[in-house]
Amino acid sequence: MELTRVAISALFLLLAFGSSSAKVEEENPEFWRSQAKQTLQSVLDRELNTNVAKNILFFLGDGMGITTYTAARILKGQLQNQTGEETVMTMDTFPSVGLAKTYSVDFQIADSAATATAYLCGVKTNLNTIGVSAATRNGVCKSQKGNEVTSILKWAKDAGKSVGIVTTTRVQHATPAATYAHTASRKWYSDADMPAGAKKDGCTDISSQLLSNTDIDVIIGGGRKYMTPRGTKDPEYPRDYSSWGKRKDGRDLIKEWQSMKFGKVAHYVWNKTDFDAVDPETTDYLMALFEPGDLRFEADRDPNMDPSIVETTEKAIRILQKNPKGFFLLVEGGRIDQAHHAGRAYMALHEAVALDYAIAKGLELTKENETLTIVMADHSHPMTFNGYPFRGQSILGKSPLWAMDVLPYTTLMYGNGPGHKVANGTRPDIRNVNTNYVQLAAVPTESATHSGEDVAVLARGPMAHLFQGVQEQNYIAHAMAYAACVGADQRHSNLNGSL
Ligand SMILES: *[C@@H]1O[C@H](CO)[C@@H](O)[C@H](O)[C@H]1NC(C)=O
Ligand SMILES: *[C@@H]1O[C@H](CO)[C@@H](O)[C@H](O)[C@H]1NC(C)=O
Ligand SMILES: *[C@@H]1O[C@H](CO)[C@@H](O)[C@H](O)[C@H]1NC(C)=O
Ligand SMILES: *[C@@H]1O[C@H](CO)[C@@H](O)[C@H](O)[C@H]1NC(C)=O
Ligand SMILES: [Zn+2]
Repeated sequence: MELTRVAISALFLLLAFGSSSAKVEEENPEFWRSQAKQTLQSVLDRELNTNVAKNILFFLGDGMGITTYTAARILKGQLQNQTGEETVMTMDTFPSVGLAKTYSVDFQIADSAATATAYLCGVKTNLNTIGVSAATRNGVCKSQKGNEVTSILKWAKDAGKSVGIVTTTRVQHATPAATYAHTASRKWYSDADMPAGAKKDGCTDISSQLLSNTDIDVIIGGGRKYMTPRGTKDPEYPRDYSSWGKRKDGRDLIKEWQSMKFGKVAHYVWNKTDFDAVDPETTDYLMALFEPGDLRFEADRDPNMDPSIVETTEKAIRILQKNPKGFFLLVEGGRIDQAHHAGRAYMALHEAVALDYAIAKGLELTKENETLTIVMADHSHPMTFNGYPFRGQSILGKSPLWAMDVLPYTTLMYGNGPGHKVANGTRPDIRNVNTNYVQLAAVPTESATHSGEDVAVLARGPMAHLFQGVQEQNYIAHAMAYAACVGADQRHSNLNGSL
């Protein structure tokens, strides 16, 4: 009781103090009225864009749930010395917004493999499986046969467009893999990761499918070690055994890729110097693998060795947009998810901010009247945004009000994850701890799980209005395909016969 009374009086103190930190112009009602009037006018002035989408620019924030989205907005503003809550991210400017339901056929809360199969291939499936229907059993090669489903990247390529994948993870990771691979297990990165039975039954690893399935013009991310024979030293980390080649079949897929592209201008690069030297005007194919596995977190990136997601997005678009028939590009901010698994909101939010800068670059390089740009997440994470922090308080900070145990807590917390710590029956005292790194969690798990609430889908450009309402996640692939007239449903091109 006493504690509650203390907390309530503290709240009044906070409110009194908080109001003095508000911005003066915001105390004037006209500030809010005129801002709303401007917004209203821009919404009234919007015209439906019913063009056929020449290009599809698809940004996927892996694990970028709505809480992450809001918190990243605040961080982006705070990094520019704004209070942050009022900051407008590039993705905030998209006119159409909907929600996608992310459950998989077998689980209430999905993973990136099942969700990517839904939004890229248009079919919901089981956890851990990629580019196959739910008739496939997780990890069972035999059940994969005949149940393959293809992706919008393939439909776009078949329609004569150029296609690409850009990610901050290994290019064999679940999200990019769903554009080109069919596999009963997302973990079959190289043949060394496959059980003998699966190989005997004729299944192939994801890396080899990167070469043998759809002909992809631009491939940018990490994942060198799955491409080269076992024991091949990594060019960047020759002394680190764990980064050496993994393949047991002796194939060097990087060399094979280069010889497959003989007669074309095809570049393989593994560092920023060579990447910067790639001239998009003269390049037909680019494969860039900057790390043995996933790329580094943006906050840890060595800018002399690895380009940012803004730079990789720009290079990809410049190469792909030479095709007069247009392009499909997947850009994945893939490590928002991985940072959340580690309970590291600081890293996750910096990844999401970097993705927003890549989106801005994408809009700068394309025209709204011919490019359908989508931003969405595959699934969310159990991160919550709680307490009563002051306006403009660091999004990575602590609650000004303490809890019933008379200890503060972080504004961002996790339902589960490695941030759970109880010693001698009490929570850790974080009064003097920098909370930038691991946020508190209610329940101890080695890795935070995913969460199951809907994710936002943002759209801009031709047929953006198709991306509204509360939809099943697999609808997204069908709506993108309709907008661009790729795949089976060609009705939109008949309606726009002259195009
Ligand atoms: C924000 O403020 C700090 C400290 O005053 C300054 O060093 C930094 O350059 C500022 N950043 C921006 C983006 O204005
Ligand atoms: C980048 O890669 C090229 C090709 O392997 C190599 O010659 C060059 O030394 C590398 N640059 C750096 C800075 O490692
Ligand atoms: C898009 O707008 C540009 C001018 O910015 C124009 O040249 C082009 O024809 C337009 N494309 C379509 C499909 O309307
Ligand atoms: C727990 O309590 C014991 C005994 O009071 C003390 O020695 C120990 O340091 C405490 N552990 C932590 C993590 O506070
Ligand atoms: Zn995950």
